[in-house]
Amino acid sequence: MASENPSAHSGGSITSVLQETRVFPPPAAFAEAAGIKSLDEYQKLWNWANDDNEGFWAEQSKSLDWFKPWDQVLDWQPPFAKWFVGGQLNASYNCVDRHCNGPDKNKAALIWEGEPGERRVLRYQDLQREVGKFANVLKGLGVKKGDVVALYMPMIPELVIAALACARIGAPHTVVFGGFSAESLAGRIQDCKAKVLVTADGGYRRGKIVPLKVHADGAADECPTLTTVVVYKRTGHDIEWNEGRDRWWHELEAEVSADCPPEPVDSEHPLFILYTSGSTGKPKGILHTTAGYLLQTSLSSKWVFDLKPDDTYWCTADVGWVTGHSYLVYGPLAQGATCVMFEGAPNWPDEARFWKIIEDYRVTILYTAPTAIRTFMKWGDQHPRKHDLSSLRLLGTVGEPINPEAWMWYHSVIGGGRCPIVDTWWQTETGAIMIAPIPGATPTIPGSATRPLPGIVPEIVTKDGKPVGDNKGGFLVIKKPWPAMLRTIYGDDDRYKAQYWSDIPGCYFTGDGARRDEHGNYWIMGRVDDVLNVAGHRLSTMEIESALVSHPVVAEAAVVGKPDEVKGQGIAAFVTLETGQAPSEKLRQELRAHVTKEIGALARPDEIHFTDSLPKTRSGKIMRRLLRDIAAGVESTGDTSTLEDLGVLANLRRSEQGED
Ligand code: WTA
Repeated sequence: MASENPSAHSGGSITSVLQETRVFPPPAAFAEAAGIKSLDEYQKLWNWANDDNEGFWAEQSKSLDWFKPWDQVLDWQPPFAKWFVGGQLNASYNCVDRHCNGPDKNKAALIWEGEPGERRVLRYQDLQREVGKFANVLKGLGVKKGDVVALYMPMIPELVIAALACARIGAPHTVVFGGFSAESLAGRIQDCKAKVLVTADGGYRRGKIVPLKVHADGAADECPTLTTVVVYKRTGHDIEWNEGRDRWWHELEAEVSADCPPEPVDSEHPLFILYTSGSTGKPKGILHTTAGYLLQTSLSSKWVFDLKPDDTYWCTADVGWVTGHSYLVYGPLAQGATCVMFEGAPNWPDEARFWKIIEDYRVTILYTAPTAIRTFMKWGDQHPRKHDLSSLRLLGTVGEPINPEAWMWYHSVIGGGRCPIVDTWWQTETGAIMIAPIPGATPTIPGSATRPLPGIVPEIVTKDGKPVGDNKGGFLVIKKPWPAMLRTIYGDDDRYKAQYWSDIPGCYFTGDGARRDEHGNYWIMGRVDDVLNVAGHRLSTMEIESALVSHPVVAEAAVVGKPDEVKGQGIAAFVTLETGQAPSEKLRQELRAHVTKEIGALARPDEIHFTDSLPKTRSGKIMRRLLRDIAAGVESTGDTSTLEDLGVLANLRRSEQGED
């Protein structure tokens, strides 16, 4: 059975302590109706891709519509890949127009529900009209092929429309999650030099208005490249208006036609930049390009979600994260699926909101995060039990390791024991799902993402790149390039090389620890670097530290993760103050608010510990391992021989026991 702690990572070596023996073969009826029906069939595909990688992807590429066929499958100059070289296509054409040529034109592409309860359904031809109009708006504002457009919006259809409109004219988008602060938004706009920002007056969250325009204004003032802010009227509340810079979405749209032919772009034309936290410095702009990304998100949607024409598919992720990009927008729409999109919080007006949505729309596939599942467990079975969830046929999870207890709850309470669960491992950088069950083929095991998808060749290795063998913890790497892989960190090829291709020779290093069992199933153990995974959101300890240190009374700060039952990880900060400053509860609250202002509420520390000094090695490095143990309330077993001053540790422990 499972132990409490799915992974343990200490002192440079990785120990996996999870032992899970429950295995769930695909239900016979599911397998029979599925696109891929047996493990054998999956294995044949995987072997084909492994033996003839380029031939495999060449064949798969036929599932996209091309304006000009490619000449070469892969140009691999490690670590720089070009896929489908010479080809031309358009992502918005593939996601929208090609479904409008037949009966699917009247199929629902998006079924949207706003938090206050309003509904909108956009059929594929509605989406085509809206995307065309907004693409013409962007053109009218002077946006040209290659210009970056920033999107900072609530979860409303216009976010999807704006993203596809960018793709239509070959303008890469950068979506910034609506929960990020003005400072975070500004940093991203400055990095990618966006000229146009698309936002809304506000969005709804737990019955309140999220004042997006206020943050957008704060950011725009700091961004000299920005000439225009397009504002969609969502809430209708009063907002400040900057004449000359601000334009209303509806006014601009009233002046344009809906006819905007999709711009053919090269396979390697940038589709979007998405910022994510790394172990060092400021967030990295992960660059994805058109053909490979679109192909792999589309194919993986078909394989992993077993999408069928009559499915009603709901991915609960915000489009501000990669999951929303790949599995709310590009993958499922390229497949011509019907997608549910929801604006609000799962507990508004009450804790049954998700289950009501599933019942109301007869959702067949639900894709959500372990942190959400653990929250639902905590809220209690009575909420899902009130609703008819019998339409569900498949469940998915993403973002962090799922503990077997949560998996079993999802399986029985939400899935009624009949729905396979696909635990999907991937990253912003990988673009598409890499390791996951194929629901009609792969037996699932609580806590394991199971097997690599066809075309994906992972390995578990030591620091020197040597395979560790079965059932031993090691570093998860990917050995062959794959179409949806990131192409670089925007504007910083050196950082791209250093971050992903230097630690372990010849491989892409994921930053995750993992184990493979004797059956070939992968067990992800979590990050091995200084990246936190808080409620499925990636945050860098360094970013939070620099936010803390930017406060005038803070001298030094160290941030570590601590185990959290619901969020996976919580944030613990250790702070030393400038001389003459005294710790207080008021200051603690002030520092938490300061981090919220600098980064966003998702980075707000759960705990702040004031301390006289931080434990450091003789060379001056903060010993985070010790702080992690202190935050978790466990005894340090690791080596402390390089600690500069053992007294520091004793003091910290004392203050932990309530003596500060
Ligand atoms: C973690 C989210 C275990 C992992 C798509 C990875 C997971 C990071 C899983 C990427 C999973 C994601 N099981 N861990 N199924 N999925 N992770 O870039 O640590 O926001 O490196 O992409 O989330 O987070 P990101």
